[in-house]
Amino acid sequence: MSKVIDSTFGQFNTLYENVTIIKSTIDDYVYIANNTKISRTKIGKFCSIGADVKIGLALHPTNYFTTFPAFYSIQKQCQVFFTDKNHFKESGENIIGNDVWIGENVTILSDISVGDGAVIAAGAVVTKDIEAYSIVGGVPAKHIKYRFDKNKRNELSDLKWWDKDIEWIVSNMPNKAQL
Ligand SMILES: CC(C)(COP(=O)(O)OP(=O)(O)OC[C@H]1O[C@@H](n2cnc3c(N)ncnc32)[C@H](O)[C@@H]1OP(=O)(O)O)[C@@H](O)C(=O)NCCC(=O)NCCS
Repeated sequence: MSKVIDSTFGQFNTLYENVTIIKSTIDDYVYIANNTKISRTKIGKFCSIGADVKIGLALHPTNYFTTFPAFYSIQKQCQVFFTDKNHFKESGENIIGNDVWIGENVTILSDISVGDGAVIAAGAVVTKDIEAYSIVGGVPAKHIKYRFDKNKRNELSDLKWWDKDIEWIVSNMPNKAQL
């Protein structure tokens, strides 16, 4: 039901229905809900990705005489081209950190970095990099608040718990934060 092209996975990755992954790398313990499409993106560990999310949208130039690819690209997106080479970088890699929660119906454009522990609220359109442990939302996505105070954010960022083995995480991490 899902389509995967030129991508690599870690352990315990879960893809729900109609997910498309293109030229991406997904690390351990990541789940991706229905109808989500991810292109040219590197995703860290323990990320929760909601339904109807789009990550890695290609760019067209907005300051050239046309936005139609045949005049700046030889990739034949539209069957023909009227130029001798690629004149424009159409996509860059997105980097999604670890423990990132991406809500339903979020769009993340191209060349964007999402810090560890960030939360992207449902329906956001992300056009700029997102700080670690921040919550962003809206169109375009803006900072709403941080998940924790600065000391706690630094403690978690330095600890990099997601890189430890699962037994260590299960026996140490639940004591560090209250639900
Ligand atoms: C962002 C979110 C996680 C809420 O986090 P929270 O810490 O409980 O934050 P709050 O509900 O206290 O909201 C904080 C502020 O963000 C605003 N906000 C909440 N969700 C928002 C959204 N989707 N877009 C824009 N702003 C949003 C609230 O209105 C509030 O604004 P205010 O401070 O001006 O009153 C939640 O609203 C959300 O989007 N969850 C995603 C749900 C989802 O997609 N689930 C699918 C399963 S993966």
